Amino acid sequence: MSLVIAIDGPAAAGKGTLAKRLAAHFDLPHLDTGLLYRATGRRVLDAGGDPSDAATAEEAARALLPEDFSRADLRGPEADAAAAAVASIPAVRAALLDFQRNFGAERGAVLDGRDIGTIVFPKASVKLFVTASAEARGRRRWLELRGRGIAADLDEVTDQVRLRDKQDRDRAAAPLVPAADAILLDTTDLDADATFARALALLAQRLGTAGRSQ
Ligand code: CDP
Repeated sequence: MSLVIAIDGPAAAGKGTLAKRLAAHFDLPHLDTGLLYRATGRRVLDAGGDPSDAATAEEAARALLPEDFSRADLRGPEADAAAAAVASIPAVRAALLDFQRNFGAERGAVLDGRDIGTIVFPKASVKLFVTASAEARGRRRWLELRGRGIAADLDEVTDQVRLRDKQDRDRAAAPLVPAADAILLDTTDLDADATFARALALLAQRLGTAGRSQ
């Protein structure tokens, strides 16, 4: 199989930034799989539907078009809630599975999400589970919002991160859990550069070991 790097972890742990940098480094395509759920939720909202209705959400997932992923309104509290609702529906997850697998199958890829190492690519070349304390992740999300000109309260943003953790872990469909063979990477005290350097070192170790055992 070509090089598939699976990056999973909770909200605002730094998966996206890391995934982009690894993709550039290894010259691989990158897929932010959260965008699939966000775009699905947005489609349902646009049509005036209920994102927690399974049939409506599945239909929206099956109708996704490439341009849906570059919309400017995929982030923010309303989009977050709709994405979380559709992501907990098994039929939606099933509808999006082939797209994710095909994306990585041809020439390899870096994919980030919640279930890449457990469900989408259980045989990925290497799996990273990226975490950070809820406080660190709340602060990052808050800074991100500020950077986009959105005023928010740090404590409230941190509480939302904790709530998202609970939703991700407690849902029946694809709950957030590290794959048994995932390497844990805690970024609480690491900035983006240090996270990238650490990830590269971990990958070299894992891929090197895999190479020798073949
Ligand atoms: O980082 P944040 O949670 O804000 O957003 P995201 O990674 O873009 O994920 C958006 C929503 O999709 C969340 O509710 C995730 O739990 C869900 N998701 C998922 O269920 N499976 C994935 N592979 C990726 C995201």
